[in-house]
Amino acid sequence: MVQRKLMTAAVQTSPSFATRLVNGILAIKPLANLAKHQARQMMIKRAEKIGVPWTKEVQKLQSLDWESDFAQVQNSQLSYPDYYLTSFHAYETGNLSWQAAFEVEPAAYAVHAKIWQGAKAQGDAKLRQSYHDILKPSLAHEPQDILDLGCSVGLSSFALQEVYPHAKITGLDLSPYFLAVARYRAQQRQAKIDWVHAAAESTGLPNASFDLVSIFLVCHELPQLATQQIFAEARRVLRPGGYLAIMDMNPKSEAFEKMPPYILTLLKSTEPYLDEYFALDIEQTLVEAGFQTPTIASNSPRHRTVIAQVSG
Ligand SMILES: C[S@@+](CC[C@H](N)C(=O)[O-])C[C@H]1O[C@@H](n2cnc3c(N)ncnc32)[C@H](O)[C@@H]1O
Repeated sequence: MVQRKLMTAAVQTSPSFATRLVNGILAIKPLANLAKHQARQMMIKRAEKIGVPWTKEVQKLQSLDWESDFAQVQNSQLSYPDYYLTSFHAYETGNLSWQAAFEVEPAAYAVHAKIWQGAKAQGDAKLRQSYHDILKPSLAHEPQDILDLGCSVGLSSFALQEVYPHAKITGLDLSPYFLAVARYRAQQRQAKIDWVHAAAESTGLPNASFDLVSIFLVCHELPQLATQQIFAEARRVLRPGGYLAIMDMNPKSEAFEKMPPYILTLLKSTEPYLDEYFALDIEQTLVEAGFQTPTIASNSPRHRTVIAQVSG
């Protein structure tokens, strides 16, 4: 009986042929590069098909002179955490390149087009809306000062500004390339946002200076230790009664629980810390960082919104 149980466990946990095949392919660099190239081409095709002019938009951004925007946002003294200096999303130099910065917006539209059936290019806006639909009624007061950690090219900061037009918004990111694009987009929209080039775990921002810290689609890109440090830093910069809100993949959603393991393996090949994120006890981590037990609600078939108020 014991032996049967063990055998069953062994059968359940050993990777399937498809998973082993995918792992085998990804272990061979030229094949992995080919797989990443194919995945990227598919994403570009998907974007163009739903009316997102990927190629045209990227060419337009490539034709601009970025020297001044880059110089304005870059903190040349900053040293990057090791975990950040790795390949992400099939870009060899991760988030530290112009190519990644120019493609991040159309890529978000392409990836989020599939969350809701028929949403197409509106999927991204719908995802952001679904977060704010949960967050806004949960806050006791309208926030005056908001910090968007991991703001990338600014999509999450602009969404915050639309929901809280009177608030002062700060967008912070580790990639000066992304921040340069964010700055350019803000000028186009005549949006007044402060862009900060820093690590979310040591922002350099004053104690108790924000009412809301928002972290949108960042934690799945972090090792657990970085997430713990970022939550502690969020606690430090929040005022008494302030809130930390986190929107990210929901490991407990059916979409991930029922995902074929080899697809998950492919996903992990572009998201190096996904395993650590899926294994993180987010409630416990928040409580240890000085927050009350959070509320967790699903805001899409595969995303969740976690809201935690400063304790005490
Ligand atoms: C998937 S993007 C999220 C983008 C954005 N919040 C949005 O909604 O479109 C993750 C971002 O987090 C940033 N990031 C990752 N680790 C970070 C860290 N430790 N400190 C600051 N930014 C970080 C990356 O540079 C990237 O721009």
